[in-house]
Amino acid sequence: MDQNELKRRVARAALDRVTEMVSPDSIIGVGTGSTTNFFIDLLAEFKSSFKATVSSSVASTARIRDLGISVLETHKVECADIYVDGADEVDGSRALIKGGGGALTQEKIVVSISKYFLCIVDETKLVERLGTFPLPIEVIPSARSAVMRFTQSIGGKPSERSRLTDNGNVIVDVAGLVIDDPEEMEQTLNNLPGVVTAGIFALHRPHEVFVSKRDGSVARL
Ligand code: 5RP
Repeated sequence: MDQNELKRRVARAALDRVTEMVSPDSIIGVGTGSTTNFFIDLLAEFKSSFKATVSSSVASTARIRDLGISVLETHKVECADIYVDGADEVDGSRALIKGGGGALTQEKIVVSISKYFLCIVDETKLVERLGTFPLPIEVIPSARSAVMRFTQSIGGKPSERSRLTDNGNVIVDVAGLVIDDPEEMEQTLNNLPGVVTAGIFALHRPHEVFVSKRDGSVARL
């Protein structure tokens, strides 16, 4: 089974969970990335059963609207019933690295206004300890050198991504970090002047992670 099929299967399992949880007044939070794209495409079948969505990126917003589904502006939404999104790494305590697609800040904002966060991954994303995937950090451009120096001082190898975020900021990807305590690392990085957010989701970790496996099953963490 190839990775796209794993992604499609976990997206289908997420849709089944979402259909159990939502009502006609519900707002569904939607993440960003190739796994979430499968979920968005499936959501079209179900679009008369909820009110609207709130999205975490320009790319997801365009994809959702193309399917005729309403997307509300995030600042006008008080609460989403459920948020569905992928991840780049997941550890055994459901702490995540996200931001491979560059949407980490909007993703964290939508998580923060959602009652329930369902993360969907295939088994290649499971790790013992976070940090093999280079950690994305969204940074205000004038702070990028200082943030790169700091991450180097704690053992990382930072590099700047060429593409800016939807917010017009820079992403610094930091390889080689040893992340033994994801909450502490998230707080430390978030507290650096000029950091908008680090791509560790430990303070807002998912309530549940669905993991699509090569044997055809979908495990729940
Ligand atoms: C985007 C993200 C994505 O969820 C993450 O990069 C996983 O993407 P994919 O489903 O394409 O593997 O955090 O900012």
